[in-house]
Amino acid sequence: MKKRIGLLTSGGDCPGLNATIRGVAKAAYGMMDCEIVGIMDGFKGLIENTSIEMEPKDFSGILTRGGTILGTARTPFKKMRKIEEDGVDKVKQMLENYKELRLDCLVCLGGAGTHKNANLLREEGLNVIGLPKTIDNDIYGTDVTFGFHSAVDIATEVIDRIHTTADSHDRVMLVELMGNKAGWLTLHAGVAGGADVILIPEMPYDPDSVIEALKKRQKKGKNFSIIAIAEGAMTKKEAEMDKKEFKDHRKSMKYPTVSYRLAEYIESKTDIETRVTVPGHQQRGGSPSPYDRVLATQLGAYAAKLISEEQYGMTVSIENNDIRATPLAEVAGLLKLVPEDHNLIMTGKLIGINFGDES
Ligand code: F6P
Repeated sequence: MKKRIGLLTSGGDCPGLNATIRGVAKAAYGMMDCEIVGIMDGFKGLIENTSIEMEPKDFSGILTRGGTILGTARTPFKKMRKIEEDGVDKVKQMLENYKELRLDCLVCLGGAGTHKNANLLREEGLNVIGLPKTIDNDIYGTDVTFGFHSAVDIATEVIDRIHTTADSHDRVMLVELMGNKAGWLTLHAGVAGGADVILIPEMPYDPDSVIEALKKRQKKGKNFSIIAIAEGAMTKKEAEMDKKEFKDHRKSMKYPTVSYRLAEYIESKTDIETRVTVPGHQQRGGSPSPYDRVLATQLGAYAAKLISEEQYGMTVSIENNDIRATPLAEVAGLLKLVPEDHNLIMTGKLIGINFGDES
């Protein structure tokens, strides 16, 4: 029997979304009699019923293309069951539109939030499959997400370029990388780029520990230092605050981001000129790396296999190089954060990287 497969991409975009879409489609067309429906702008498109009937040619030439051909939007899980001013019952609309589109299943490409929404639809009785996308690499149950390695490549190149100018000017340079809760990107790019200090959300830092590390380098005759800092990095003091206190404290900060505050502190405690670079959304832009193209193709094709076997309620993951299916229910609502004893942190410490945790 012909299957109608719905595809959507949700949450922040990243390199590799189109490569994954292509992987799903090519494998699905090869494996079964099917029609593919592209839902536009993530769950928003399912709520508003904006979709397109797709053809095999739509999936050609997109392997290397950044962004997502389906568009994306953020539709927070916490708002899904909330009826807002427009009076729309979002969940009801999605169920109705799934039915109206005569879908047999819905493939949701996205991050942690998307997986929560996908699981909600599974609980409501829809046939759902998740695919793990994010530059943050924080989806539970998978060793790696597509988009992550492309972002590491971009962030590492930024650090490489910052190195030469830091050296020329004898400066401390802070490179602020994406990652509000998870520090995987900063950790990997920091190690790959030879950062001297790496600050991630999972390891609250002591600003004076950073100062000590910088002074030590100065004493050794090193004329510059590089700090890779995640946008979600916080001080030890901040980590002790409750949620509200933390929010108010951050709101009252005069700095646009955490890096500017630390830069000012460094200049107040040392004689070293300090600068901040925030590459921002460049980390999510452009073509996926070869690694991500391979991973995206593998994960996408595996999703098609799950559809052909009617194994729904799963997300595709990779563990020890093995592509497999993990129940959405086991993944939704959990985050994969960097453990303090992660081997890359251990390696970093062995080679003298400061993580802001030594006093
Ligand atoms: O989830 C990916 C991510 O890039 C995070 O690293 C970052 O904190 C966030 O999205 C930025 O979101 P937006 O693009 O909505 O500003």
